Parts: sequence; structure tokens; C-alpha cells
Amino acid sequence: MAKMYVMLPYKKGTIAPEIYGHFTEHIGGVIYDGIWVGKNSKIPNYDGFRKEIVDKLRAIKAPVFRWPGGCFTEAYNWRDGIGQNRSIKPSWWTRWDGKYETNEVGTHEFFRFCELVGAKSYIAANITSMTPQDMRDYMDYCTSPRGKTTLALEREKNGHPEPFKVDFWGIGNENWGGGGNMTPEHYGNLYRQYSEPLFNVAPKDCKLVSCGQSDFQYDWTRRFLGQMMSSGKKMHGMSFHYYVKSAEKYGEAISFSDNQWYAMLADAWKMDEIIERTWGIVLGNCMENHGKIVVDEWGAWHPDGSGPSKGANLFEQQSTMRDAVLAALTLNIFNSHADKIMMANVAQLVNNIHCLFLTSGDKCLTTPTYHVFDMYKNHMGAQSVGVYCDTKDIAFENNGKDGSVKNLSYSASVKNGFLTITAANLDIENAAELDLEVVGANSICDKAMTKILCHENIRAVNTFDNPCEVKPELIEVDIKKPITVPAASVISVEIKIS
Ligand code: AHR
Repeated sequence: MAKMYVMLPYKKGTIAPEIYGHFTEHIGGVIYDGIWVGKNSKIPNYDGFRKEIVDKLRAIKAPVFRWPGGCFTEAYNWRDGIGQNRSIKPSWWTRWDGKYETNEVGTHEFFRFCELVGAKSYIAANITSMTPQDMRDYMDYCTSPRGKTTLALEREKNGHPEPFKVDFWGIGNENWGGGGNMTPEHYGNLYRQYSEPLFNVAPKDCKLVSCGQSDFQYDWTRRFLGQMMSSGKKMHGMSFHYYVKSAEKYGEAISFSDNQWYAMLADAWKMDEIIERTWGIVLGNCMENHGKIVVDEWGAWHPDGSGPSKGANLFEQQSTMRDAVLAALTLNIFNSHADKIMMANVAQLVNNIHCLFLTSGDKCLTTPTYHVFDMYKNHMGAQSVGVYCDTKDIAFENNGKDGSVKNLSYSASVKNGFLTITAANLDIENAAELDLEVVGANSICDKAMTKILCHENIRAVNTFDNPCEVKPELIEVDIKKPITVPAASVISVEIKIS
């Protein structure tokens, strides 16, 4: 039995809904045959966007989409994706998959997608091949008031008189790598150069996001923020990327050993350390009002080929309970750092990396990760509260090295008179029994609705023939008794409190 204390008076900050955000890059099958089927398709759609996906994104209250990349953005000219005659060009990814970009989905379509779902927009703009003036023009095109500028008139001619709502704007992507192979000092200078003319044309509530480090490369962030100290703090968020990716250490999407299950989840847990250390650098540079953390790419990245397209869609992969548990523990980490994180975007939404949907033609399924986002949705906009639980260390061996990982990940939040507790049990053999004590509530309802996501086979997946193989179960529990968290599972508990 594990004692779990939820401490309501210990308020850790409001969980920004955008922490539950998504990434929709022009890569592989994310856009074409993913979210986009085309207006004339027989597949049910809203203005060309796959109806089933839009409806299911509404159901989980998807808060924000990052677009158009990723690396794709670093060779993207926004002018190719507006108006009647769209250019066909090699994209960033053509070298990898031989596919050419038709630009059928461009700026107008992206904002329509956000509108259909009811989500915010996050444009990742290109500083590798676009000038500061190009970027300013793009912002002008998107946001200038109706009829006020030449570019606003062009937008009107293209069918959208009113400005688009731009909520977040990224200045570059992975500029330490594909985004120009820059040094942090060079990027810092460019950030200031691009943000200055952009800032004074951007709507006042549009948040500008910079490019921080990859994984554990803290030196990038330290040196980049060092540059930002001297002038120009026209920045609201600073992103970093962390993928858990190593075929050698973690095996494949469906084919992995028990040790590889633990090794992958142990490395996913390093997200906690990355947030702590990155925030330490932000504080050390007095940038806490400018450098709120944005984790705009995260997820479990398996070797190619396990998805329905059998490798035709770049980076398409299947998802098991391992991916669901990894998503759950990552979201628990984000919840518990609510005061530091402004947004996060799981990579990516459809047919790519740690996706929520797999599609092919008229077929569409939700992955176990979709269910985690559904089970966690009440955390969005809630007050994160302190929670402590007794845990055990699970020992494992991987590539000749010993490791250990905690058996339980958890977080808790309060909103509208409900306490939401979410937990993931990493142990593939033993269930955990939680003896719950809520500190600081006047009254607590004994009965609580609980969703449990698990499967007797940790390698089970949803397929087009069997799309509900891994799905959550809804049960009512008596919280005066221990709450069971089955082996290798994710649970969410909703408790009425006052
Ligand atoms: O998500 C796939 C790619 O991974 C993105 O384009 C890039 O930013 C990252 O390296």
C-alpha cells in the first residue's frame, strides 16, 4: 500500500492549457492524408480537414497547434501557401521520403483548422532563409486590421478580410542544428534582429518564442540567454526539445524487452531534470518574465516502419502502453512545473512519432496516447497542487548497465470544485494500491469516477481492424478504500471537493 497525500493549500501555479498542445508539421503523413483530406474528398471533412480528427480534438479540448514545422519551417516561404496558384516545391523532407510539397495547406487553411478545433495558433517562422522584413511582412499579412495595409488587402482578396488570430510566434526552429547550424551567440544576435521589427507589428497579445537547447545541451541556453541580457527582451517563451530516442537502448515501437520498457521510461523521466536545470539558467539570467519554458517538441521516437504505411510515411510509428505511460509521466511532470511552463507540443499529431491518431485513406484510429490526453484534460487551466506518494525503485539492466526507475508518476490539480489526480504505474508486474489522504479540504465526496487505461499485453496496439484494443475503462471507486493502479497502467480520478 502506498500512502498518497494531496496537499490542497500547496498551490504550484495554474496549469496553462497550452501544455496539452500539439505539433502539426508538413512531414510524412501529418498533414496530407492525416488531418487534411481535401475539400472534394469522399472522406467526411470540414473544409478539407478530416472530420473524425477535428471532432476528436474538440472532445479533448486540444488547446494549440504548432505549424508548419519543425525543420520544414526552415525552408518554408509563406507566400507559396497563399492564393490560387500554389507552388510545388521540394520540402525540407523530400530528401528523406521523395515527397514534394504542394502547399495545398497554407496559412489560411492552418488558421481554419485552429478555428474548427477551437484551438490557439503557434506559427514557427523561418530565420534560416527568410529575412527580418519577410517575417515582418508575414506577421502583417496575418494580423493587420481589415483593409489597413496592402498585405491585409491581399489577405482579403485571398478570402479572409479579418485578421487571423496569431497566439504564439516562434523565431526559428532547432537553430543549433537544421535551423542554420548556428552558435548560440549568433542565434542570440539574430533573435534580437528578427524580434525587433516583428515585435512592433505583432498584436500585443501575441507571444514570441525563441529556440533553446536540445535535450541536455544546457550550454546553448546559457550562452543564448547571456546574449539576451545585454539588450532586447522581446521574448515571452523559450523552447527546448526532448525526444526519448534510441533504438539501441529502447528497442522498437512494439518489439521491446521488459528492460527496454524501463530504460525508455527512466530516460523520459529526465524531462523533470531538464526543466529544473533549464529554469535554473532562466532564473540565473533574470529572464523569468521573458523565458517561460516551451517544450515545443517532445515524445517517444521509435525506429521507422511500425505504422500502417509500413515506412511510406516518414517517422510513422505504432503506440503501445509504453507510449501511453511515457505520455502520462511527461504530462505529470509538466503539471508539477506549472509555474515554469507556458506551452508544450507533443510530436506529432497524426501518423508521426508519438501521435494521437493513425490514418490511411478513410481509416482513422486513436492511439493509447490519445486516451491519455483525454484522461488528463481536466488538468488544463486547473491549479496544480502539491502531492506526495510513497514510491519504490524498480531495478533494470540495459546494454550491460544497471538502472532504476520509480514505480509511480503522479500529479494533482483542482478546478471548479473537482480534484483531479492522475497517475501512471511503470511497474509491469505489480499493481499499486493508493491510500489517499487529501489535506485541506472541507468536504470530499467518497465516490469518484476513475478512468483506467491498461492492457494485459503491454505490447498491444490499436489497428484499423481492431481500433479499440487499448482503450480506457470508466469505473466508480470508493476513495475511502485504496485505489488500485494496475500494473503498466494510467489512471485519472475525479473527486468532488469543497
Ligand atoms: O518532429 C520531427 C523533427 O524533429 C522536427 O522537424 C525537428 O524540429 C526535430 O528535429
